[in-house]
Amino acid sequence: MLAAFAMYACGNNSTGAKKDDAAKPATDNAAPTASADPSDNPDYQKGLELVAKNDCLTCHKVEEKLIGPPYKDVANKYTDKDVAHLAEKIIKGGSGVWGTVAMTPHAAVSQADAEQMVKYILLLKK
Ligand code: HEC
Repeated sequence: MLAAFAMYACGNNSTGAKKDDAAKPATDNAAPTASADPSDNPDYQKGLELVAKNDCLTCHKVEEKLIGPPYKDVANKYTDKDVAHLAEKIIKGGSGVWGTVAMTPHAAVSQADAEQMVKYILLLKK
């Protein structure tokens, strides 16, 4: 007669070792086309410097709406012909184009500096 064997019940999977850290995804995405990179443009660099020095970035971001419209949207709405007009708007402030919230005036900013900032913004066109 065969006696009942002891049950080897516990089917533990005791392979606890983690293998996660071996898996690194390959990152060979092509870099964005260098020739179309607006940040090489001296107007971009000078304008960005002025934007960063002033208070613009408390109300504006490039991609997202803050208090003011995203610079990318401003760029898409206007052309190089609007540089003087937009510079004046920065200096005098105003509302009504993007909504009822007003941009504060920037009386201390020169027309030339304001135009330089607008040139930077317009280079963000997509
Ligand atoms: C107090 C918040 C605030 C600050 C600071 C600010 N902006 Fe604005 N900006 C706005 C708002 C709000 C609008 C939308 C105005 C409108 O609807 O007419 C705007 C609109 C603009 C426009 C588009 C104007 C138009 O008529 O379409 C430009 C360009 C611009 N801002 C650039 C700047 C620059 C450059 C600076 C920094 C010198 C700056 N802004 C600082 C709030 C601000």
